[in-house]
Amino acid sequence: MPADFDTIVNLAKKRGFVFQSSEIYGGLRSAYDYGPLGTELLRNVKEQWWRSMVRLRDDIVGIDSAVLQSPQVWEASGHLSSFSDPLVECTNCNSRHRLDKLDNPDQCPTCGKSGTFTEPKEFNLMFKTHMGPVESADNAVYLRPETAQGIFINFENVRRTARMKLPFGIAQIGKSFRNEITPGQFVFRTREFEQMEMEYFVHPDDADDAFQEWLDIRHNWYLDLGMTPDNLRLREHEQDELAHYAAGTYDVEYLFPWGWDELEGVANRTDFDLKAHIERSGEDLTYFDQEANERIVPYVIEPAGGATRTTFAFLIDAYTEEEVGGETRTVLKLDPRLAPIKVAVLPLSKKPDLVETTQKVAGLLRDKWQIEVDVTQSIGRRYRRQDEIGTPFCVTVDFDSLDDNQVTVRDRDTMAQDRIPIDSLVSYLSTRLPN
Ligand code: GAP
Repeated sequence: MPADFDTIVNLAKKRGFVFQSSEIYGGLRSAYDYGPLGTELLRNVKEQWWRSMVRLRDDIVGIDSAVLQSPQVWEASGHLSSFSDPLVECTNCNSRHRLDKLDNPDQCPTCGKSGTFTEPKEFNLMFKTHMGPVESADNAVYLRPETAQGIFINFENVRRTARMKLPFGIAQIGKSFRNEITPGQFVFRTREFEQMEMEYFVHPDDADDAFQEWLDIRHNWYLDLGMTPDNLRLREHEQDELAHYAAGTYDVEYLFPWGWDELEGVANRTDFDLKAHIERSGEDLTYFDQEANERIVPYVIEPAGGATRTTFAFLIDAYTEEEVGGETRTVLKLDPRLAPIKVAVLPLSKKPDLVETTQKVAGLLRDKWQIEVDVTQSIGRRYRRQDEIGTPFCVTVDFDSLDDNQVTVRDRDTMAQDRIPIDSLVSYLSTRLPN
């Protein structure tokens, strides 16, 4: 059974994972701020993605391109003409909806009336602003709606400077912006979000194989980080769902509390983008294939995920309630690589010599892991809080520690406790907290 949506949202707010943006002013709809724990979790998700996509591979390099790009980028890419959703307005209650997301395209979900929608009109999702002090059509710029174009327009810069040979990839993590008609489901669909995208450039003859390979790699990435296999699936796009640039797409879908929904798209973008930029810019973005002695425009296989959306899915998937000694224990069973806090160091009491030893122990761990020292409340309540935020290990400093230089290490999932010499603590934890 998927976790209950409200329970997850409440936990996220209560424990400081995610706050409503501008909360003290009543909140800005569909924008969110990540609190201390949410920021760590989000960073860990991005770090794991970067590690598997860039650091562990010879054939992929990373970039960090600007959010603001020449408007010509969006003309060439087709986003100015085609990056839109069908918008309908209810003439009875004036609510606006995305037609393709309605269960019943004739009935307004806000007021329940039928036959009250206006004709659908294509609503462009890009946020528009102006560069410089004058607001005119000549200096209109757009907040990027995907990080991918920053990669395409740097294809030749990266190929040349990083001396890349086909097949190779360029990866990027960064913010994207879409003026979504119906944002919602907490951080699932927001107007400002973070993407993790990689464009893998291949010889056109190799595109189909590369597409299959990336589907497997991306599916397995979620499984390797502990996502429940039954909550994940691959779904092929119908022809009428395909983005304007795609010849084929599979979504990696997660079973959210409201049903199956997209986590990531893996698309065959063909040579659409490079060709469009060659045409528009007049620059040579072709690739000389030495083996075949020919110039080609590479095809592109694109795994495009959302960092914020994926973070939310990991949070949902990790949420567990179990019966322990007649009580309900809430545990976030996050993979230790994703857990916001890896180790909590807890003195049994606030007595100064215990707190001093606690700080010494914390000093040994701080350099390697994100840790938390918690001296408040009873030890039982502190364990419960750490379970609820997914901390894999709690290290307790008690009165015996002062004499025997040992501490108790409690495992989040099994609740088993080991007595470990302080000298061996780093190596004990290192084997249990992989990178
Ligand atoms: N470059 C291709 C591209 O942008 P997409 O399917 O539109 O493809 C990729 O977006 C991923 O970005 C999605 O699978 C999702 O995880 C994330 N994403 C897209 N729109 C989002 C939104 N409004 N809020 C949160 N995440 C979003």
